[in-house]
Amino acid sequence: MKKALITGVLGQDGPYLAKYLLKKGYKVYGMVPRRLNLNFYNTDYLGITNKIEFVLGDMTDEASLINIIRNTWPDEIYNLAAQSFVGASWDQPKLTTETNALGPLYLLNVIRNFTPNTKFYQASTSEMFGNNGRELQDENAPFAPQSPYGISKLYAYWIANNYVESYGLFCCNGILFNHESPLRGQDFVTRKISEGVAKIKLGLADKITLGNLEAERDWGFAGDYVEAMFKMMQQKKPGNYVVATGKKYSVKDFLETAFNCAGIKNWKKHIIINPTYKRPAEIHGLRGNASRARKELKWKPKVKFRELVAMMVDADLKRLNEKKK
Ligand code: NAP
Ligand code: GDD
Repeated sequence: MKKALITGVLGQDGPYLAKYLLKKGYKVYGMVPRRLNLNFYNTDYLGITNKIEFVLGDMTDEASLINIIRNTWPDEIYNLAAQSFVGASWDQPKLTTETNALGPLYLLNVIRNFTPNTKFYQASTSEMFGNNGRELQDENAPFAPQSPYGISKLYAYWIANNYVESYGLFCCNGILFNHESPLRGQDFVTRKISEGVAKIKLGLADKITLGNLEAERDWGFAGDYVEAMFKMMQQKKPGNYVVATGKKYSVKDFLETAFNCAGIKNWKKHIIINPTYKRPAEIHGLRGNASRARKELKWKPKVKFRELVAMMVDADLKRLNEKKK
């Protein structure tokens, strides 16, 4: 039986990936940091909490990572743990860097020293492209990150590539564009909108407070994207792959579609713009070209933009309705 270790297993992507790997017959270890109240909502939502073996560890604590890997001896490590909220990375740049840049370095050193055959997946991001002046990004596009988050992720991207070159490790960077789901953290704009719209529909709120509505993103479904993670780890040679839909929409488009899915007219009257949600440096638009993934991994996204928005609004309506009972 193959063994996988997923860091960040209780976030958005972790549970989808864990479910996918469990279905493939993997033994799944899920690394969780020590928290006062660990939140198992996302693994419960997918019905897999009791199928994962949880192990306690922190990306900023090298010793904990050494212990975990030497105790579990995984065939594959999917490094999804991160301080992943771009906005917060200006408030906590050191924590963001320690978690997102040094954490992967620690993991790579454990692999290099103790389990050199373990394959390593690094959760890289379209944020690394930043505002590079290009309209469409592929694996060869230049990097121009705009946030402490993007910069921390760029370090991890390069160190993973460097350990392939230097030590022959098997490391893949999945350069994933924004992907969303009902399990998305509530701070991210799509979930903030789907939850806000559901509350307005149920009479629990009247307004959603947001920042820059003009920003454009290439939004896909997290459940589709974890398949690409797995597929790149099964290739003969390690590689870096852009994972994206190739279509981009603005925050405004997302809002309009979400209100429309809930059957609410005049969406603009429900929006408040608050500059505190604007960022010190913004990435205006991101759109990815996933041709390499399509060709080599035979991967393509299944869920379309409107289906994704509807899925998120419906899930929030259902959840809030159940809470009301
Ligand atoms: P997420 O929901 O924020 O999940 C990240 C997980 O990492 C959380 O469960 C978090 O736990 C945990 N974590 C944070 N600091 C940690 C630490 N020091 N030690 C151990 N665990 C820690 O992120 P996601 O959306 O699933 O994304 C997964 C990965 O892909 C992240 O690395 C993200 O940066 C990257 N990525 C995401 C997207 C996207 O659109 N979703 C796109 C490109 C790349 P707490 O919440 O308890 O802190
Ligand atoms: N979060 C948030 N909250 N964003 C807002 C708001 C708001 O109230 N109002 C407007 N936005 C805009 C942001 O300025 C940004 O341009 C866009 O909505 C998307 O913001 P997020 O949903 O926070 O996502 P992100 O694109 O910054 O980062 C996500 O995607 C990256 C991949 O490109 C995260 O998942 C990152 O971890 C990931 O790497």
